[in-house]
Formats: sequence, structure tokens, C-alpha cells
Amino acid sequence: MHSYSTLWRESVTKVLLSCQQERSYKVQSADEKGVRKLAVFIDTMAQYSRISGSVGLITLSNPPVNALSAAVRQGIVDTVEKALGDPQVKSVVICGQDGIFCGGADIKEFGKNMSGPPLIPMIHTIECATKPMVAAIEGSALGGGLELALGCHYRIAHSKARLGLPEVTLGLLPAAGGSQRLPRLIGVPAALDLITTGRHVTAAEALQLGIVDQVTDHATVDAAVKFALSVAGKPLDTRRISTYPCPHVSDVDALCENVMQKVRKSAHGAIAPIACVQAVRAAATLPYTQGMEREKELMATLYTSGQARALQYSFFAQRAVSKWRIPSGARWDTSTPRPLHKVAVIGLGTMGRGITVALAQAGLPVITVETHEKQLMEAKRAVSDMLNRGAKRRGVAPPLDKISYSCNLQDLADVDLVIEAVFEDMTLKKKVFRQLSAVCKPGTLLCTNTSGLDVDQLASQSRNPELVVGMHFFAPAHVMKLLEVVYGPQSSPQAVATAMQLGKKMGKVSVAVGNCRGFVGNRMLKLYTEQASFLLEEGATPDLVDQAIEEFGFPMGVFKVSDLSGLDVGWRIRKEEKLAGLSVASGQSTRIREGRRYSPLADLLCEQGRFGQKTGRGWYQYDKPGGRVARSDPWLHHFLEEYRAQHGLVARHIDHQEVLERCLYAMINEGFRILEDGIAAGPEDIDVIYVFGYGWPRHRGGPMFYSGMVGLEKVLERLEHYYQAHPDVPHLQPCRLLRRLVARGSPPVHKWREVIKNLHSQL
Ligand code: COA
Ligand code: ADP
Repeated sequence: MHSYSTLWRESVTKVLLSCQQERSYKVQSADEKGVRKLAVFIDTMAQYSRISGSVGLITLSNPPVNALSAAVRQGIVDTVEKALGDPQVKSVVICGQDGIFCGGADIKEFGKNMSGPPLIPMIHTIECATKPMVAAIEGSALGGGLELALGCHYRIAHSKARLGLPEVTLGLLPAAGGSQRLPRLIGVPAALDLITTGRHVTAAEALQLGIVDQVTDHATVDAAVKFALSVAGKPLDTRRISTYPCPHVSDVDALCENVMQKVRKSAHGAIAPIACVQAVRAAATLPYTQGMEREKELMATLYTSGQARALQYSFFAQRAVSKWRIPSGARWDTSTPRPLHKVAVIGLGTMGRGITVALAQAGLPVITVETHEKQLMEAKRAVSDMLNRGAKRRGVAPPLDKISYSCNLQDLADVDLVIEAVFEDMTLKKKVFRQLSAVCKPGTLLCTNTSGLDVDQLASQSRNPELVVGMHFFAPAHVMKLLEVVYGPQSSPQAVATAMQLGKKMGKVSVAVGNCRGFVGNRMLKLYTEQASFLLEEGATPDLVDQAIEEFGFPMGVFKVSDLSGLDVGWRIRKEEKLAGLSVASGQSTRIREGRRYSPLADLLCEQGRFGQKTGRGWYQYDKPGGRVARSDPWLHHFLEEYRAQHGLVARHIDHQEVLERCLYAMINEGFRILEDGIAAGPEDIDVIYVFGYGWPRHRGGPMFYSGMVGLEKVLERLEHYYQAHPDVPHLQPCRLLRRLVARGSPPVHKWREVIKNLHSQL
């Protein structure tokens, strides 16, 4: 007996051979019409063959994810027509090439004039077919890919496949019938969950929900072909999802209202999740055709929205940052990461613990070193708890055996990479680096987890500075997605590549950044928090500032975040920098440092023991130390009034617009400086850092993208205005790159790199 694979190869060869004439004819005739390229694509982007005698096999073929571009859609239309018209074909299987069914609509086509056959009638034709249509799902069936599968009469998935309708994450809704078919198939509550969150489900969950009919551990197309043979000739009336009544929900209005409230709370101003609820509600309350009309209407608003543009930009930006390149000329595709067999973490404070958990969860053997025995015991318990909780959530065994604990640095002789996470103290870190240089085998990469200390200074302590990079994790390190990989002038391509790849393995979005105070994220954040403090001096309250920031879409305002992370952290750093505390030069005005405006408000709160949530008092009050719910504090308001009186400041009315402009534009201006300095390679790097590490609302793209949406001229004009009003704040002075971009007619964000390159070449 022939195996299916052999049969498939043979028949594909036959069909391809028989197609050759047709293909050359098509190309010729297409040439005459001047559309040669498309005609060639049509032939290759959905391949057709007949196998096992009576099964038509359609293979989507558009690497890497078989996205439904115009040419693929045309290919599907043509091959479906061919299969349905072939009297020998009794059933049809649709699959994707290279182990992936389909990654959905081609996101690159969004925002452009759509050409090619639309998805809705294409899927409708498939559903109306009188021959059974079977989707063979391997890899992913996402967005339009799942909608295509829902148009089929049966769905067979591989056990490792993932399915979902992630359109909401791109600012859209599943508008090729997905919002109408899925609730009819799996019920309104489950559909609301999937469509409003965009989450991907495993094949096992898809089977449980009823999205797929069968899951296989074997060759999916083989299983689907076997299945297609078994259902050939069977009636299909009960298999067309659009004809199903939506499963009854006792109080659909209450359900949708409840979900709507939850969605509004978590969406932070994003409109797509709300439209998703409305579309599913239409499925539950209207006949299919009217529901489809509603889906179309809702999509029309989303499709052209700024939010959709921002989210789609963010999708590509996230992928662009993995293609790093650094000023030395090293880049992602020419630098080979070093294999890592064993890694180490030094210092088991909050950061070290989180990093250890993330490493073990990534499957890496980790040795940890902590000098304080009591801390070591506590950390061991905490790390095990975190691993157990994570494993329970994911239904896997906790990787406890991946970690060993030690008090002795000498145990690190055989590790390939070390992440140092001791106290944020340069003298201590230097000492640790010297010790590591002596202990570790040659070639061990030394990484420092610092939120802003000079990585080059640390590298200078090592025998091999080219093997040193910064790895700036964000707390809690096993949860937060962002990792800044900080390279220095001497960092080798291999060191950067290894840290970037390790970040990816740990599930992080890693961004390569240059070394400077605060790197990218914290350098910009400083300007944002500074402006917020100045606004308090001028008449605002923490409540007003936070409200404006939260309405903009940040999950938490600047003062709430400060209370959460603890005011004492910044205070300690400012004291070290001689900006605060007893070491401030005598005779210096309280509100000036190094000739620039300075706000001592946070220092004054710290002097009162108001460190934020941990002490129950900070910018807000809490019901107890460690309390979470921030309440406005009359003491603070009184304190601000006294402070203003003492410094001769007259409180003025400050509105939300000014809060946003002062805080965000100051930060954006610094972002432009970072690009000018070459610390970030492009605006995407900054935007990804802000979205994944600092709570910047994703539907606003990131600070640099947002500045383009506001209009660079406007940002420039407002910065000029504020700089004039506050000449003692040099950071408000618009930077050169911003001016140059405006002078060049404010090109779109994807063109900024050219302008930056020109600017660098002139320096
Ligand atoms: N349209 C256009 N390009 C797409 C795409 C889509 N729907 N999905 C992925 N791509 C591109 C990526 O931009 C990337 O391009 P690059 O190599 O030039 O950077 C490439 O395909 C590979 O994608 P990547 O995400 O790096 O691969 P992966 O294997 O990690 O993940 C998917 C594959 C399909 C899970 C993931 O790409 C994904 O989630 N895609 C979007 C799915 C979606 O939202 N579809 C709905 C569209 S409305
Ligand atoms: P966080 O991770 O939140 O920044 P800490 O700075 O408090 O927390 O954590 C640093 C940890 O590093 C502490 O547990 C401290 O005991 C440990 N540590 C300090 N010096 C060394 C050292 N030389 N070797 C190993 N561990 C150290």
C-alpha cells in the first residue's frame, strides 16, 4: 500500500505537470494584459491536486504564515471552483503549506486599497458547497484563517495547533463572518471571551469548545483526507454554521452588558473590544444576514481608525526590533548566538528571583548565588512557590530541578552566562564583576541586570569587556515582557546575539539599546515624572495628573506607579547623585540643581517617611501599610499649598490637555534625542519599550508613533511654547531631529530612519 505522503507527492507531481501548459498559457495571456505577476502568483499561492482518487486538496502556499493576500484569495477562489467542478472529486480538504494552516488576513494589505476577491463571498461559497469541505489545521488558524475554517463543514486539527480570532489586537473585529459564526458554533459566552481578548486556544481547548471536530497527533492532512473520504456524499445541511441558531442564553442583554463593563475597564480606551461585544451581541439577537450587516458596519468604523493603525504598527514594530543592528555594524542575521548549557544568577532579591524563575521556565539549568544565608533560604521558598504557581496555571510539572542554590561564587566556574542582580550599587557590582572574571571559564558572558548604571564601567572591570552586556529586566521579571539588552562599544556581536536570543527564549520582547544613563526607558521616564512634579508645584494635584494619564490609556497614573514602586528607591539614587539629602551643596536653592529647575517634592515626602504603598502613605493614602487602594489625601493637598506659599508659587488652573502635553511631549522630545544619539536604532525600538515595559497604551502605538499621529508640527510648536514658559527646563527645548523632521514635511514614522541616518552622517 502506498502511504498518503507518497500518494500526495505523486499526484502533486502529476497535477503540476498537467498544469504546466495551463500555467504558461496563463502567464502568456497575463503578459498581454500586463498583469503577469499576479497570474503567476495565482497558480502558486493556492495549489490544487486530487488525491486518493476522489479528494480535492487545496494547499495555501504563501510563506511564512500563508496569510490571505489578494493572490491567495484568488488562488482559493480558483481552486475551490476547480474542485467543485471536478466530477471525480467527492470531498475537499483545505490545508496550508509548511505546517501552518493560515495566519489570517495579510496585515500588510490593511490601510491600502483592497484588490482581489473579498473573503466573505469566498467563505460563503465554501460553506454553500455541496461537497464536504474539510479544514486540516496545523500550526495556526488565526483571524481570517479560522474564519475560512469556520466556513468549512468540518475541522481537523493537529494537537499542537493554535486557533483564535486575534483581530481585536490589531484594532479590528473578525469581519469575515467570524463574529457571527463563532457564537453560533460555541455559544455566546465562549465566543465573547475569544473575540474580545483575541486569545489563542490550544487544539485541546478548541475540541472542548466545539471549534474543531477532531484532534490528531499524526499527519493532519492524512487524517483530514481519511475523514473527507468517510464523509463524502453525506448530507451537509447540519454542517453550515451560518444556518445554526445561536445557542440560547437566558439573558443576553445582561450577559453582554456585563462583558461590556469588563471590557471597558480593561480596554483603557481601545475601541475594538467594544465593537467586538456589539458584533457578538448582533449574532445572539439577529438573523445571520442582519448580523453580517452589523459586523460590516462595525468593521467600517474600526478599519480606518487611528487605533487600528497604531495596533498594526505595533504588530510589525514588535517583530522589527528582533532584527537588531548596532553601530559597530553587527546585526541579527550575521551574528551567531552562543549555545547556553548552564546559566547563573547572582543575588536573589526581587529581580534575581524573577529572573531565575523565567530562566527555569525556559528550560535552562540555573545556578543561583546569594551571599546572605537567610535571604537564600527565603528566596528558595519564594522561587519554588512562583514555579509551583506558574506550573499549576499551565498544567505542567514545576521545573524545580532546574535550579541549584549556592552561597559561593566559586561554584560558577562552568557556567556559560551569568546574570548579576546584586544591589544597584556600582562599587559592589564592580567588585562582583572582578570576582566573576577570575572565577568563570574563558568565554563566559557576563550580564548585569541594572536599571541604569553605566554598563561600560562594569565592562572595564572584566578581563573580557567584549563579553559584557546589560540585561535590564522589569519587575516582576518572570511576568513583565520587556528586556532591554544594553550593548557597549566593546560588546561583541556574539554577546549581543546571545542576550537577545536568551531573552526570546525567556518569552521576552528584547530590544537592543545603547549605553547611557537610564538607557531608553528610564531616560525618557525621568522627563515624564519630572514634569508631573512640576505640575504639582504649579497648581495640579496627584489625582488630576493621574486622571489625565489614565484617561489617555495608561493603566496607572504616574503618582500611583510611584507609590507602588516605592518613593525611597528614587530618593536613594538622588542622594547618591547629590541631588537630595544632606550632601546637596549648601546655598543651593531648593528648587534648582546644576542651574536647572528641580522639584524636591518627592524628597520632602520621603523625609516624612512617606514611601508609598509600603508605608501606607505617599502621594496618596492607603488604609494600611501595603494597602493597594489609593485614596486622595487631604494632608498632601495641604502640604502642597504650604509648599507653594513657602516658595512664592501661585497655583493656577491646569487642565488635562496641559498635563498630557507637558508629560508626554517632554518624554517624546527625549525619545527624539535618543534617536539622535543612536541609543535606539529606530522609533519602533522606543515604542516597543514603552508598550511592553511602561504601560503605554498599545492602541496609541508608542510615544514616537503617537507624536506622528498628533502631528510633529504640533508637538514642536507646543514644546516651543512650554520651553518659552519654562526656560529653566532645558529638556523642553525641541531637539534637532524633531526640527529636522518637521522641516522635511513630517514624514511618516517608517521614513524616520532615513532622516536619522542623514543626521548622523552630518555629525
Ligand atoms: N499578515 C502579514 N504578515 C504576517 C502575518 C499576517 N497575518 N502574520 C505574520 N506575518 C509575518 C510577520 O510580520 C513576520 O514577518 P517578518 O519575517 O518579515 O518579520 C513573519 O510573518 C513571521 O511571523 P512571526 O510572528 O515572526 O512568526 P511566528 O511563527 O512567531 O508566529 C503567527 C506566527 C501566525 C502565530 C504570528 O505571526 C501571528 O500571530 N500573526 C498574526 C495573526 C493575526 O493577527 N491574524 C489576524 C489578521 S486580521
Ligand atoms: P532587587 O532585586 O529588588 O533590586 P535587592 O537589590 O535587594 O533587590 O537584591 C539584591 C540581592 O543581592 C540581595 O538579596 C543581596 O543579599 C544579594 N547580594 C548582594 N551582594 C551580593 C554578592 N556579592 N553576591 C551574591 N549576592 C549578593
